[in-house]
Amino acid sequence: MRRVLLINGPNLNLLGTREPALYGTATLADAVESVGRQAAAMGVELQAVQSNNEGELVGHIQAAAGRFDGMILNPGAYTHTSVAIRDAIQGVAVPCVEVHLSNVHAREEFRQRSLTAPACIGVLAGFGIRGYGLALEGLLAYLDERKGKGRS
Ligand code: DQA
Repeated sequence: MRRVLLINGPNLNLLGTREPALYGTATLADAVESVGRQAAAMGVELQAVQSNNEGELVGHIQAAAGRFDGMILNPGAYTHTSVAIRDAIQGVAVPCVEVHLSNVHAREEFRQRSLTAPACIGVLAGFGIRGYGLALEGLLAYLDERKGKGRS
């Protein structure tokens, strides 16, 4: 069974009450439940973590090596600042999809640069919590394609 780690960064624990006009009214628990159900239907085991701490996020990414087939990551504000998270993604051979609930490209200029995206296989932005499920689909397609090419 494939294993996927869903990682949410700072302030995403506040989903539901945090700037609902931007991020919606669903809570993080709602988002995890929804993508978890989708994962189960696709025969994938999904584990979810959230942290407001950059070092802890680095730790989760490092610990994914050899334990997970892929990662879905919303680094929150660390997207725009964290060389450490980018290096962690690059340092483990675990494909990662970056997700943003909001369309960061339609927002402030500082949100339009992602330091972490270049280490990821793809990025989804602007689809709200549905983005996590879309990322899962993309990640599984990527893993299937890679397997077909003879790499596991
Ligand atoms: C976010 C976008 C970031 O710019 C912001 O700091 C967040 C959430 C998103 O999901 O749209 O915390 O990653």
